[in-house]
Amino acid sequence: MSSFPEFRGRRLRRTEALRSLVRETSLAPSQLVLPLFVRNGDKLRNPVLSMPGTAQTSPDELLRDAEAAASVGVGGVILFGIADRKDATGSEAWSDDGAVQRAVRLLKSELPGLVVITDVCMCEYTDHGHCGILEGGEVQNDATLELLSRAAVSHAAAGADIIAPSDMMDGRIAAIRAALDDSGFPNAPLLSYAAKFASAYYGPFREAAESAPASGDRKGYQMDPANSDEALREVFADIEEGADAVMVKPAGPYLDVIARVKEATGYPVAAYQVSGEYSMIHAAAERGWIDGERVMMESLLGIRRAGADFIVTYFAVKAARLLR
Ligand code: PBG
Ligand code: ZN
Repeated sequence: MSSFPEFRGRRLRRTEALRSLVRETSLAPSQLVLPLFVRNGDKLRNPVLSMPGTAQTSPDELLRDAEAAASVGVGGVILFGIADRKDATGSEAWSDDGAVQRAVRLLKSELPGLVVITDVCMCEYTDHGHCGILEGGEVQNDATLELLSRAAVSHAAAGADIIAPSDMMDGRIAAIRAALDDSGFPNAPLLSYAAKFASAYYGPFREAAESAPASGDRKGYQMDPANSDEALREVFADIEEGADAVMVKPAGPYLDVIARVKEATGYPVAAYQVSGEYSMIHAAAERGWIDGERVMMESLLGIRRAGADFIVTYFAVKAARLLR
């Protein structure tokens, strides 16, 4: 390696043409996935106040949002359901008349080329808001696996392209894989939220999905933000159980985890730029404190540079438009 004055790092930064020649990381619309919130109804569009630009919609309106995303080349959408009726076991999660199941059927018939991912979890459907069955104040791991499996099978039956379990129960990937295989869906891929941290950045999402826990928190099943060795254990466990791709969530505060997971596994790695990350950039831009578009693009590029193959982000459509 040469050093100054032989080395002058600025030589290749002098024009945009030179800079783009040596640029190491790319960002494309096809690498972005848009989260959408769906609830049963007709012509429904309830804006989510803490996440400007996002809304809870009925399936017909969701189709319009998905069309807009597809038209600018966004790689896919991920669906979150909002329940009509919540109960102790979250039984609406596997109902064929659930909002997610209806929306998937509509999307796959109207926009067959768009990748439709479904989030599998119980917290939007349980009356206590936890991601599994609650007994004596504790989320029951093994009893929850059966319910998650039912939800996953109902999503696959509706036509989902990828099933994404986000509950953080142990053994869920093996259980869901077996249930899908037994039900005639051996080709439905699993994207595991493998390293999902117990994060304060999920705040706005819980307003959007109406999924905040009624009591307690999720620290008994989601990961401690201090740990990255443990993230690798979670990731390898899920790969062993049959995950086809793994996710790190949140993204921006966990770039080191993304890098380690990509390096250690070589598997397709997704990163979820979560609601709080989105809302913070939005709020600061609204006050004129930062250039929102530039910070948006820089945040996404940083997640790609860390090693994510694709990014789940509420900025998907806006960023894809800028990239075109
Ligand atoms: C729940 C779930 C959460 C998110 C996706 N699925 C949050 C939580 O644990 O409450 C967060 C997404 C976001 O903040 O954008 N299983
Ligand atoms: Zn959950």
